[in-house]
Amino acid sequence: MAGIYLHIPFCKQRCTYCDFHFSTNFGSYRKELIAALCRELELRKAEIQTEIQTIYFGGGTPSLLENEELSLILATIRANYSISETLELSLEANPEDVCEEKLSHWKKEGVNRLSIGLQSFKESDMQWMNRAHLASDGEKAVRLAQQFGFENITVDLIYGLPQLTQAEWKNHLELVTSLGISHISAYCLTVEPKTALHHQVKHNQLVTPDEETQSEQFELMIEFLKAKGFEQYEISNFAKNEQYSKHNSAYWQGVHYIGIGPSAHSFNGKQRRWNISNNSVYYKNVGVNSSWFVIEELSENEQWNELFLTGLRTKWGVSKTVIDGLNSFSKSEKDLLQHYITDGSMIETVTNFILTDAGKLRADGIASSFFRV
Ligand SMILES: C[S@@+](CC[C@H](N)C(=O)[O-])C[C@H]1O[C@@H](n2cnc3c(N)ncnc32)[C@H](O)[C@@H]1O
Ligand code: SF4
Repeated sequence: MAGIYLHIPFCKQRCTYCDFHFSTNFGSYRKELIAALCRELELRKAEIQTEIQTIYFGGGTPSLLENEELSLILATIRANYSISETLELSLEANPEDVCEEKLSHWKKEGVNRLSIGLQSFKESDMQWMNRAHLASDGEKAVRLAQQFGFENITVDLIYGLPQLTQAEWKNHLELVTSLGISHISAYCLTVEPKTALHHQVKHNQLVTPDEETQSEQFELMIEFLKAKGFEQYEISNFAKNEQYSKHNSAYWQGVHYIGIGPSAHSFNGKQRRWNISNNSVYYKNVGVNSSWFVIEELSENEQWNELFLTGLRTKWGVSKTVIDGLNSFSKSEKDLLQHYITDGSMIETVTNFILTDAGKLRADGIASSFFRV
């Protein structure tokens, strides 16, 4: 089992909060960049010996791909990799790009999971976020995709925004659950360095909510979505009827994947690989098959830390077999484990250690308390 992630490093405009890798000025070299993505796919085919179960177009903004560009990338994948019959093929789409022409092309190419970036239902949020769409475009995009027969739709929301009240957040949750979708990803706003948001906060032009307000919104969301039949299978991810993201679930459970495109990561069980986060250096260097990535051998301690950081965020928790493969628990780690079980943050099953709802409220803190240095 393996997956392919493709990073499409283009965006129409720069959202104030975002520090993902993308460029808003790509018209002059987009052809070269798409050719480099295809070339990287060809160069790396020997890295994957098993069937591809998931393909994920992330970004940046994959919905900016022209139909011919998407077809070319998928044709390259089909020509070089063995694809499972039950492939999950996901594509992240920004609401302003969702139109009849693109939806029918995505359907024809086998896209069977759409991730639509709604972010908020409040019109004034779109402006300060510098989104390239209106809040109302989000709902329209979901409805249109549903008309085109997309059944597996997820949307992204952000909470913990400036001036977002509990009542407004509850209203956003009501609106999102009325869309008839099977999956929701909701992220707490993070002020990332070097973003416009960071600049505004630093210069007192904007005040973001305190941690307590953000925690209250997190708790409200968990309770609300649970009552609507959504299972929280990862800290920020909720699914109805077990319609989990196969791609992300595999990633959280340590399945191998290759990441194609500038800034994309790969993981083969022992090594992590980072592609360069620079579009022109990426396409030029891939073209001559030279220095477009770095490889890092993960030490046992790093594998351990990664296991707790990603595993504890999920409903599957961390596996005892994997823990035993990494020298099991020390005496002090066993005491820590017992402490979390006694205070109701964690439970032990026959095979795994899993956070309870109370534990999920401080998942990162609990995970980092197990870190080995
Ligand atoms: C990097 S975007 C890519 C998808 C697409 N371009 C979009 O904007 O919807 C993926 C998601 O990351 C989330 N995100 C990015 N930066 C964030 C931040 N600083 N705080 C919280 N969520 C963030 C947003 O919800 C966004 O939908
Ligand atoms: S949030 Fe999405 S659209 Fe906005 S800059 Fe980041 S990747 Fe681009």
